[in-house]
Amino acid sequence: MSAPAMIGRDADLARLNERLDEVRAGAPFTVIIGGEAGIGKTRLLREFEAGLPSDVRLLVGQCVDLGSVASPYSPVKGALRTLVAEEGADRVLDAVGPGRAALVALLPELAASDPLTAAPTAPPAAGAATSQLHEAIAVLLETFSREHPIVFVIEDLHWIDAASLTLLRFLMRALGSSRVLTVLSYRTEDVTRGHPVRAFLSEAERDRWVERRELSRLTRGQVRKLARSLIVDEAVSEQVLATVFRRSDGVPFFVEELVGIDGCRDEGEVPDTLRELLLARYERLSESAQELLRLVSIGGVCVSHSLLAAVYRGSADELDAAARESVLGGVLTIDGQDYAFRHALVREAILADLLPGERARFHARYAEAHEAAAASDLK
Ligand SMILES: Nc1ncnc2c1ncn2[C@@H]1O[C@H](COP(=O)(O)OP(=O)(O)O)[C@@H](O)[C@H]1O
Ligand SMILES: [Mg+2]
Repeated sequence: MSAPAMIGRDADLARLNERLDEVRAGAPFTVIIGGEAGIGKTRLLREFEAGLPSDVRLLVGQCVDLGSVASPYSPVKGALRTLVAEEGADRVLDAVGPGRAALVALLPELAASDPLTAAPTAPPAAGAATSQLHEAIAVLLETFSREHPIVFVIEDLHWIDAASLTLLRFLMRALGSSRVLTVLSYRTEDVTRGHPVRAFLSEAERDRWVERRELSRLTRGQVRKLARSLIVDEAVSEQVLATVFRRSDGVPFFVEELVGIDGCRDEGEVPDTLRELLLARYERLSESAQELLRLVSIGGVCVSHSLLAAVYRGSADELDAAARESVLGGVLTIDGQDYAFRHALVREAILADLLPGERARFHARYAEAHEAAAASDLK
């Protein structure tokens, strides 16, 4: 479903690699990639990551769209868990120095390896704990970057929680001589006036160790190339290619969607609006698959199978059948134990389509499932 080759981002990719070379020589740097939804931020990062030399350590954190309930530090935890998995809890705790209690509080799985904190102690005051944690994470990145340069990616900053954003601010000052290339991405149209990331970006702009890049829309020629690589039919007409260019506005995700639904073959069938385009695959599915997707959309871009099973009202077989149909229909993808929308834009279109009553009921089921999970954790 996605194009085998990335088109038209050579300069961006080259820039990231140049910055990595500079970082390798001994100074940290931050690259911030902005662009509209579907323009190819994730794709660019995946290609960069896939081409990293083997001595570079990659730590990736993903911000998720959970509104105000976004749990503190979740993207940071994601990134640090990779480090713990690769180095082992003992080495991580040894490296971290005085901030170990703060780090163990963030990643409770470290406690088992830590004789000092295994016994419960009174937690430090909130402010002190925060600065200890910031310090601890800076020390970790700095220490491990002496062995291997680190590429530290945080994707989709427009959804970042306040605690992680404060940490990023701190890291941009604190990583003085470490070999860390921080790469951040954000969706331009979501960082509106008053969004906390807006202030972060303007501060970052003044820093000479920060570079901001905007991914532009593809040109007519690039869209042609992309569409051709997606259309199996060799004899695709010029008219179809022209339609794809016009309707996609040069956004790669829309090119994929237009080519993927056979509407692009016939001018008459091309969805009129963006919303229709985003819902085209969804609307071809059975009612039970659509209902499942509406339920998933309330849970987020990505929902684990176990959570979904807890909020779903039908049988396990029905759930599997509806999920399978959604995957085959190109709306959901499977990511380990999770179901994820193929793109956040599709989730947002489905979410916007929910009836108010349905929305309230689904929300209530997720709330119940979260409560039940929390209660069983406490037992
Ligand atoms: N330059 C490109 N060449 C080919 N395919 C692309 C390109 N940019 C994006 N895509 C494809 O378009 C879709 C949306 O891209 P994605 O990286 O998810 O966008 P974003 O992260 O900016 O929302 C993906 O399936 C991706 O593989
Ligand atoms: Mg993305």
